Amino acid sequence: MTLEILPQASPHIRHGSNIGQPLTRRDGVLKVTGRARYAADNHPPGMLYAVLAVSSIARGRVKSLNVEAAKSHKGVVDVMTSVNRPKLAQDPDEKSNPFMFRLDLLQNDRVRYANQPIAVVIAESLEAATEGAALLAPQYEAEPARVGLDGAESFVPPGVGVGGPAEIRKGDVEAGLDAATKRIDATYETPSQYHNAMEPHAIVAAWDGDRLSIDTPSQGLAMARGRIAGLFGLSPENIHIRSPFLGGGFGSKGLISGPQILGVLAAKLVGRPVKLVLRRDQMYGPVGHRPPTRQRLRIGVDGEGRLTALDHRAKTASSTFDDFFEAAADISHTLYASPAIATSHEAVRIDIGTPLFMRAPGEATGSIALESAIDEAAAACGLDPLAFRVRNYAEVEPISGKPFSSKALRECYAQGAERFGWARRPLAPRQMRDKDGFLVGWGVGTATFPALMFHAEARAIIRRDGTGLVESGAHDMGQGAWTALAQIAADGLALDLDQIEFRAGSSDLPDAGIAGGSAHTATAGMAIHSAGADAIAKLAELATRDERSPLYGAGNAGLVARNGRLRRRDDESRSESYAEILARAGLGEIEGRGASAADPAAQSTYAMHAHGAVFAEVKVDPDLGQIRATRLVGAFAAGRVINPRLVRSQYHGGMIWGVSFALNEQAIIDRRSGRVMNADLAEYHVPVNADIVSIEALLVHEDDPYVNALGVKGVGEIGVTGAAGAVANAVWHATGMRVRRFPIKLEDVLTPAG
Ligand code: MOS
Repeated sequence: MTLEILPQASPHIRHGSNIGQPLTRRDGVLKVTGRARYAADNHPPGMLYAVLAVSSIARGRVKSLNVEAAKSHKGVVDVMTSVNRPKLAQDPDEKSNPFMFRLDLLQNDRVRYANQPIAVVIAESLEAATEGAALLAPQYEAEPARVGLDGAESFVPPGVGVGGPAEIRKGDVEAGLDAATKRIDATYETPSQYHNAMEPHAIVAAWDGDRLSIDTPSQGLAMARGRIAGLFGLSPENIHIRSPFLGGGFGSKGLISGPQILGVLAAKLVGRPVKLVLRRDQMYGPVGHRPPTRQRLRIGVDGEGRLTALDHRAKTASSTFDDFFEAAADISHTLYASPAIATSHEAVRIDIGTPLFMRAPGEATGSIALESAIDEAAAACGLDPLAFRVRNYAEVEPISGKPFSSKALRECYAQGAERFGWARRPLAPRQMRDKDGFLVGWGVGTATFPALMFHAEARAIIRRDGTGLVESGAHDMGQGAWTALAQIAADGLALDLDQIEFRAGSSDLPDAGIAGGSAHTATAGMAIHSAGADAIAKLAELATRDERSPLYGAGNAGLVARNGRLRRRDDESRSESYAEILARAGLGEIEGRGASAADPAAQSTYAMHAHGAVFAEVKVDPDLGQIRATRLVGAFAAGRVINPRLVRSQYHGGMIWGVSFALNEQAIIDRRSGRVMNADLAEYHVPVNADIVSIEALLVHEDDPYVNALGVKGVGEIGVTGAAGAVANAVWHATGMRVRRFPIKLEDVLTPAG
């Protein structure tokens, strides 16, 4: 009914003028001129301001709140606590799938982590609400906080990631290690990290009877709507969520969070629209984070420099009440050939907010450990780390033995190395100095991320005037979906971009799945493209069955669509415009529908991953230990590139996260209180512009006939993998010091000798 009617799938995928163009973001001007309306910019009539009061203890109960003091403060309208919080249709601790948070919605007086919401103050102004919240003066019955990876008894989690097995093995790791001539046994630690999107979680909620209107940033509109519908006992159709612009998400807006629901509850309590915006420090708790890990890697290598065994054991932490377990070891399934591979996970439950997907969840934490260990193994063998990686290149997916649907990693290594100048790298560490006497080091890391796809739907309409309208409830969190998906939409209808209107970012549009797992372009894009093809097929049917059309009798298969016209394949001069066909048929418009989902047959046959190679240069002050990442070159292969400018931007962003992971980011938890001590952007360090001296991303050509008809893999998360390890390995190469606890700090690389 859709694509097969026009065979050769969709000729305009190959010949279309939109896919592949390096367009700037279509919303760029709106953003730089302040016209883009983010959730918190909304201000419906009669709106009140809600401010959260959050717990300053990590475990225990709230003994008392001075609600009277808050309520009698000028401007305060009401205070919502567990006593008067409106009823919910569902227990907020109920969870039917991994894509749900268990939520803290004032269901009782328990405190399960620091910064947990304990009350909401609603007032006529933000100032009054803030002052009211300060007057609550909570009294607690505190219990000792369980903190850190040794804070509680460990166990094997029931599943990791979105439910993958916690332990996987192939071959005999112990035998492989016994047979090895060189062995590495090293333990790496990664800290808690927080998403820290520029835009804090925010919501403006307005009730109209049993209808609910919401402005809030979301990476998963349909899931958010479903979650709210369940909690409030509403039909999903009665809930409208607008989410046209996000100031970043990185996973933290993938699941609707407790504070967002509290905004909806507050609006219900007072019977007026309510705005609730998290303060920066309040984002360190109830909206997810990347959990800490401790990873032990054992690697065996034979006399030829080939792996004989790879054992990757990860320990991670989750909250005491929910089940997110970071799949840190799973990256060892994908990258390096080894006759024996074992991965396993264990976890502790401590007094923290529930961790969550954070850009390359599992892959990022696992990658810095694996890439460090591989580097250590190369050094132990006296081999160049790039040559060592190539020697252990996986021709098939190591854990499954499946062929890759495509894998241009060799080309990534070669092109990246060439561009970086890797051939001039001395083998031994601490050999290079710049003119100012700084130690210089070069490191490499392999990047990888699975090519995923979820379910999505889309609608495409060809209007009477020959222009198009394409609708998809897709999410642009800053990555450029509104541009890249519109390019796909235009090609799907064989129109120019300025001939179509593309609507996204609203829950009343077709479900576009989630903007997560680096799968949004493939997922929403395939649905969008299929919808266009469906509309064109219906149009073709009208024309080829009508004796008055020059296309009569050609059959749909005998037509191609290009530039708003259908043409005969055998004679392109015989053609008709969309508008002409609709006019003759007396139709105002014609509508096509599209859907997408992963193809189970292709998935069971092929391993699908994007790949890349990241090369990093660091300079280290030999006296002060200060580390600077001075040059980054990444070469990535991720199938078809829809928009090279936006794809490069994703790679740059990911690689900067890599620098951040290796050198900057860390939430520091007070062991006595369980509180994050650096819950702000002054003390929680991320690189700024001045920290990123030179960065370059090469787009390596890769055709993938199996991932989806567009040939698109994801680009959003792969950049952080590989990059973090490359920077860490460069620090070793500069200093000769192998630091295994991240981020690497200046005191870690100071030597008395200088
Ligand atoms: Mo991503 S962590 O799948 O938004």
